[in-house]
Amino acid sequence: MTWNVEEFVSAAGVTVDRLASYVEDSQRGLPPVLRRRPPRELAARLDLGRWIREGGMTPETYAEFLAAYLDEGTRLHHPGHLGHQITAPDFPAALADFVHGAANNPMAIYEMGASAATVEFEVLRWMLEKVGYGEAGGGVLTHGGSLANLTALLAARAAAAPEAWTDGVPGDLALLAPESAHYSLTRAAAILGLGERAVVPLDADRLGRIDVARLPDALDRVRRAGRRPMALVAAACATGTGLHDDLRGIGEFCAANGVWFHVDGAHGASALLTEEHRHLLDGLGLADSLIWDAHKMLRTSSLVAAVLTRRGGDLDAAFRQRASYLFYGDQDFPQGERDLPQGERGVDLIGRTVECSKAELGLKVFLNLAWRGERGLGDHVARQYATARRFWELARQRPGFECPYEPESNIVCFRYGTGDQALIRERLMADGAFHLTSTEIGGLRHLRVTVMAPATDDKTLEALLDRIGEVGLSAGE
Ligand SMILES: Cc1ncc(COP(=O)(O)O)c(C=O)c1O
Repeated sequence: MTWNVEEFVSAAGVTVDRLASYVEDSQRGLPPVLRRRPPRELAARLDLGRWIREGGMTPETYAEFLAAYLDEGTRLHHPGHLGHQITAPDFPAALADFVHGAANNPMAIYEMGASAATVEFEVLRWMLEKVGYGEAGGGVLTHGGSLANLTALLAARAAAAPEAWTDGVPGDLALLAPESAHYSLTRAAAILGLGERAVVPLDADRLGRIDVARLPDALDRVRRAGRRPMALVAAACATGTGLHDDLRGIGEFCAANGVWFHVDGAHGASALLTEEHRHLLDGLGLADSLIWDAHKMLRTSSLVAAVLTRRGGDLDAAFRQRASYLFYGDQDFPQGERDLPQGERGVDLIGRTVECSKAELGLKVFLNLAWRGERGLGDHVARQYATARRFWELARQRPGFECPYEPESNIVCFRYGTGDQALIRERLMADGAFHLTSTEIGGLRHLRVTVMAPATDDKTLEALLDRIGEVGLSAGE
C-alpha cells in the first residue's frame, strides 16, 4: 500500500502538536516525571491488544493513543529527571529521527544513502579533530556505547592477535580494567571470546579511580601469569561517580609499555567542547581508541555513539567479511574511481561496524550542531555540570547529607542519613516528582543524581533536598 500523503500530513501534524505540549508541560515540571503502571493495566489502558488485532487507526484515534502513550512514559524534559544518563533530546535531533523514519537510508554502503553516509563521515571528522586524532584517525557511528566499546575492543584484539578472526581467540589475552568500568566492557570481553576471567581488575582508590602508581605491579602480575595485555581501559568519566581517571598518567604508562589504551568517554568526552572542563580529558590524544556517546551529552535521542581510533587502519582491521551481495573486493569502486583520493569517492563504513544496516545516526548529531553550533553544545555541557555542582554545594550544607567527593561532571553521589537509600529512591519515584538512580561506592549504596534536563534549576534542587529529608526520615534513618 502506498502512502496516503494527506493522511500522513494530518498524522504528522497531530504528532507535532502532541509532542509540543508534552515537552512544554514536561519542561514546566508538570508531574509526574515517571509512571510505572503494571504492564497488563497499561496494555489495557492503551488498548494495545485491539489495535494489534484489528488495526484501523486514524489521525483522530492516533491523537488519543499518542496522548495516553506519552502520559504513561518517562519525561526526560522534566526538571525532576535526574535519573539515567539519557538526555532530554534537542528538537533538531528529533527532526532527524523523523526524517530517518520516512526516508530510511540505512547506509550500510554508500549507495544506500550518500547524504546520510557523507553526513556521518563529516561528523566523524569533526569528532576526530576534537579528540586530537585528526586526519590519521578513523571512526564510525554505532547504535550506542556498549556496541562502541565492543567495536573498540575488537580493534584492540585484532592488533594483539590478528589471527583471532580466523583461528579463534588465543587463551592468553587479558583485559585490564578497574571494577568501576561500565559493565559493557567486561561483557565485551566475554563476547569477544576472552572470557570474563581474562579481565584483570586494576587497583583503584576508594572512589574507583585507577591508581596510576600501581599500574606497573598490575602489568607485572599479568605478564607473570603468562598473559598478554590486549588493552587497558580507563574512564572519562566513570558511570557510577562521574569521576575521571588520570588519562595522561595512564596513557603515558601504556605508551611506554606497548599496551593498547582504550578510553570509555561515553559520557564525558563531550566536555571537550567546553573551555572550562576540557582539562578533565587531558591525555585523551594518547588513547589508541575511544568511545563518545552523543545521546548522553550532545542531546540526541538514543542511540548514537562514536568509536574513534588514533590510527584509522586499526578500525578497518577489527572486522573481516565476505558477502558477494555487498562487498566487491577489488571491484569495490567503479572503474576509474578506485584510485581517487578520500573525499572524491563514496565511503562504505559497513566494514567498521557490527551492524549491517543502521539508522541515519550522523544526521542527529549534525542537526544539533547545525542549529546550536559547537559552542551551544559546549554551553549545554557546562550548564549541566554547573547545576550538578550547585546540587553538591546545597546538599553538603544541609544536615544529614553526606557527599563523598567533589563532582567533576553532572553526576553526583550522596547519602542521606543512615537508612536504606534504595528505599528513599523508591519513595521519590512513587511520588513521581523526581527520578533518581543509586549506586554502590566502596560497597555502600549511595543516591545518585545525574543532571540531564536543561529545565532543572535551583528551585528543583532545593525541592529535591527537602523531599529527601522528608522521605528519608521514615526510611529507617
Ligand atoms: C561510561 C559508559 N560507557 C558505556 C555506556 C553504555 O552506553 P549505551 O547505553 O549507549 O550502550 C554507559 C552508559 O551509561 C556509560 O556510562
